[in-house]
Formats: sequence, structure tokens, C-alpha cells
Amino acid sequence: MSEAPKTTMTAPPSTAYKIVDVPELYRDVIARHGVPGSFVGPSEQESPWIPFGERAALRHLAFDVRRNRFSNVLWIKQAGVVGTHKHRGTVVMICLEGSARYLEYDWVAGPGDFIYETPGLVHTLVSDHPQGVKLFGWLEGPIEFFDEQGHFVESLDVWWYINHYETYCREHDIPINKQLYL
Ligand SMILES: [Fe+2]
Repeated sequence: MSEAPKTTMTAPPSTAYKIVDVPELYRDVIARHGVPGSFVGPSEQESPWIPFGERAALRHLAFDVRRNRFSNVLWIKQAGVVGTHKHRGTVVMICLEGSARYLEYDWVAGPGDFIYETPGLVHTLVSDHPQGVKLFGWLEGPIEFFDEQGHFVESLDVWWYINHYETYCREHDIPINKQLYL
């Protein structure tokens, strides 16, 4: 058996409770062209729960128009189905509350469980939990939705998600939160 590689770092090297100034060759370039990170707190002003059909809602967290990526929490409020869809990009999800599964697979995701979806997958999301499910996700578009006969209905990409957010904010006098736009 080969020996494990020697690594210097086995734990974060600083535990000092202070801001540490670190070298950065490109400080000026980053100041000019870098993109700041973002933060979205818990209030409805920062990002409201927006209905997605009768029994589900989306709380938008980020829109990345360069890469057709978006982040949100999908809340299915009671046992129910979110229709059949096909992925053209990759999706990463963590179950926050309740439970969810796909009719096509044999697993059930509960709180803390990790879900990874890849281009080409077609599946039907359901929650059998009486309180439904909350799923945090980082998604890449487009996501194609189909009706129960398998007919294509619409392709959802970052523009659909931005429009979903902005339309609701306009109608409810909620200011557009710049933090959501990466
Ligand atoms: Fe999916």
C-alpha cells in the first residue's frame, strides 16, 4: 500500500479572531473588475416567498446571467407533485426540511441530504411528507417542463427566474434586492 501524501495543512492555520491582511498581487485589478459576494437575510423584503403554482413557493437567492445559473429555496407546502421536467444543466440541492423524492428513483431525501442532478435527467419531484419539503438549490438552466401527456410546455432559465422575482416585487411594492444579481 502506498503512503498517504504529506500535507502541511490539516486544519485551518489561523484561529485568530481578527481580520488578517494577506498578500494580493492583483489587488487593484480585483478592485476594478472583481465581483463582490452577496448576502440575503431572512426577511420578505430581502427576498419574498413567491407562489409557484397553488401549493409551492420559491424564495430566490441569486441570479447569474453569465452562466444561466440561479439559486433559490423551493418550498412544496404539503404532500404533492412538482411536474415532470428535464435538465439541460446541473443541479445541486440540499433538503432543509420535510422530505422529497423522485418517482423515478428509490431514495427519499430528508433534512441535510444532498441531491445532484445532471444534464439529460428527466424526473418527477414529489413530497409524501404532510408538511411538504424545503429544498435549497443551485441550478443551471434550462429546465424543460412537460405536461402529463409528456408534451413540452416551457423551458425555464435564469430569465424566467428573474422575471418571476421582479414581477412579484413590482406587484407587491417590494424593492428589487440588488444582492440577488451576481
Ligand atoms: Fe430535477
